Amino acid sequence: MIHAVVGYGRLARALVPALQAAGEEVVVGRRSPGVGELLPGDATRAADWVWLTVPDDHIAATATTLPWRAGQLALHCSGATSLAALAPAPVAAGFHPLKLLAGDADLAGAYVGIEADDVYRPALQALARALGLVPLALPSPMAAQARAAYHAAANLAASGVLAVLADAQALWAAAGLAPTDALPALAPLSHGALDTALARGLAGAVSGPIARGDVAVLTRHLHALADAGLDADLLLALARRQLVLAEAAGRLDAAQIAALRACLVA
Ligand SMILES: NC(=O)c1ccc[n+]([C@@H]2O[C@H](COP(=O)([O-])OP(=O)(O)OC[C@H]3O[C@@H](n4cnc5c(N)ncnc54)[C@H](OP(=O)(O)O)[C@@H]3O)[C@@H](O)[C@H]2O)c1
Repeated sequence: MIHAVVGYGRLARALVPALQAAGEEVVVGRRSPGVGELLPGDATRAADWVWLTVPDDHIAATATTLPWRAGQLALHCSGATSLAALAPAPVAAGFHPLKLLAGDADLAGAYVGIEADDVYRPALQALARALGLVPLALPSPMAAQARAAYHAAANLAASGVLAVLADAQALWAAAGLAPTDALPALAPLSHGALDTALARGLAGAVSGPIARGDVAVLTRHLHALADAGLDADLLLALARRQLVLAEAAGRLDAAQIAALRACLVA
């Protein structure tokens, strides 16, 4: 079987070597092909499975330009895009790695959301395992609302954490600490919390002043933000969510919960 990978960006730079390492034959299709590469149309003609690894907004337009033939499978890797974007192809499937790829990362170890019919799902699951990925069956077909919710969850878990660390970094700088130390010192705390959550669940992992019912410390945190001229919206929103987790863990008594809630109404 031959794979065409159309669009050689961050995802393709991880996917192509992974396919080749798994023993698959791959042709790369690019708008301006280099040595050993083809134009997207020629790559499509040569292939059985055609991966459209172009930006989400260009998947549909690219699919209309390719010379599809019966028996081919079109794939995209977008968690946010309907398979309808691949409509000109005879059959379509989604293969969405749950991993941030910046050009130097590989795919191994990540989950991959697979949206495919009963004919192609087993083959895609087998391919996922051969690439070192963990297959995750998505509803097929996936309703627009479910797709948006699934993709929002993935974005919250990845870039949402970066936004949290950006606020932590700003507080670190407000404390007069060297900004260059912030990320190296704080990121291991995120790693540690995540490791604990994987072992004990989210409620079992929550720690800090909310989990302890320590209203005085929480109040000082809020004052620190105000003194630094920083917005408290994220800290307040996260504190409210942590309170839900701490309550679920059964850590707090009614008086502590009431005191924390009163502190978090601001
Ligand atoms: N990066 C990630 O972390 C990640 C993770 C999971 C899923 N994905 C999905 O993977 C797909 C590709 O994302 P990416 O991050 O690899 O994108 P990217 O780095 O921006 O690369 C996309 C490639 O598509 C081609 N391209 C750019 N503009 C185009 C246009 N207007 N029309 C047609 N082709 C164009 C270019 O390749 P050529 O110059 O070779 O033509 C470009 O390198 C998306 O569906 C994305 O949602 C990405």
